[in-house]
Amino acid sequence: MMEFEYSQALKRLPEQFFAKLVKKTQALMEAGHDVINLGQGNPDQPTPAFIVEELQEASNNPKFHKYPPFQGFPFLKESIANFYQSQYQVDLDPNSEVAILFGAKTGLVEISQCLLNENDKVLLPDPGYPDYMSGIALANASPIHMPLLEENLFLPDYDNLSHEDLNDAKLMFLNYPNNPTAATATKAFFDETVQVANEHHICVVHDFAYGAIGNSDEPPQSFLQSKGAKEIGIEVYTLSKTFNMAGWRVAFAVGNPSIIKALELIQDHYYVSIFGAIQKAAKKALDDGQESVEQLNQLYQKRRETFLQQSEKIGWHGGTASGSFFVWMPTPEGYTSEEFANLLLEKAHVVVAPGNGFGKAGEGFVRIGLLDSEERLQEACVRIEKLSLF
Ligand SMILES: Cc1ncc(COP(=O)(O)O)c(C=O)c1O
Repeated sequence: MMEFEYSQALKRLPEQFFAKLVKKTQALMEAGHDVINLGQGNPDQPTPAFIVEELQEASNNPKFHKYPPFQGFPFLKESIANFYQSQYQVDLDPNSEVAILFGAKTGLVEISQCLLNENDKVLLPDPGYPDYMSGIALANASPIHMPLLEENLFLPDYDNLSHEDLNDAKLMFLNYPNNPTAATATKAFFDETVQVANEHHICVVHDFAYGAIGNSDEPPQSFLQSKGAKEIGIEVYTLSKTFNMAGWRVAFAVGNPSIIKALELIQDHYYVSIFGAIQKAAKKALDDGQESVEQLNQLYQKRRETFLQQSEKIGWHGGTASGSFFVWMPTPEGYTSEEFANLLLEKAHVVVAPGNGFGKAGEGFVRIGLLDSEERLQEACVRIEKLSLF
């Protein structure tokens, strides 16, 4: 069999850090062990029935069997604008300030291809969601890491970045509620971000994947709620977590019209928009889904409280859990993140994600996904207690 050489761009793609962990987990499961998997970010609940029913009905409509309009159906863009108005009191022009995406992941990789040239610099949260780096690598640009430290509530400290780095950076990725640290951002932080971006001519991409999942009565802050945000950036929102629609691959970008246009331009070349019936069901979710979102938030809140109570009880203190469906827990003394995660996997059959997999500054932590029942979260703590680490 002939073996073909990959392009330089493909060779630059970062290694999938968690692939090893997934393999080990699978091996334990196949060997018949009862593994509690809190290592992934895949929502465990089904999509609400009213959304599935909308898809079923829409899939019978021959209109949706044809190619959809290249940049998506206007009815979905209008729903997105209405959703942002009702949730965040943000005004959006559905024609010029909304782009429909095949999942946030796709948009977050595309944005680097849209704006970056070789050797350009990008401000990147460390720890952070790994896919930002994939786009940067494809564009042959390079990251400037912004450490998210506990003493700064896991927000980047712009005062600690050099003037040179700020001036060189073309793009900045942010993500709150944050994966993996479970931190949330304040309006004051986003206001400061707008100011810094304006001063240094940086395009801000705020990944709002966990926008609906918070640990307080106040919903998490949208970046676009800060004055001037639309002038210097976009926000990327996905239906994957808000409506348990990870398999449907629907997301959107909203904000600065020139960036929206760039995303639509690249997508005109890669795809014809998402299956129309899925767009119809996505509209239904955005229009009528608030009750289901509240129920989902309550479910995660109960799991969060259960896990934090149990971890406290076994002497495992110091977790962060302000938003998202993760808890960011410190590793016990004497263990690196990876050593600790391996120990939990091998001795307790509990899977957690080692923090260093999300970047150097993630060392000293592990990420727990609240994606199993309260009973299983409790059971995980019972098993961990038996290891006498705390
Ligand atoms: C921070 C963050 N951004 C984006 C995504 C991807 O979302 P989507 O399912 O829309 O591709 C995820 C999924 O895990 C995520 O954690």
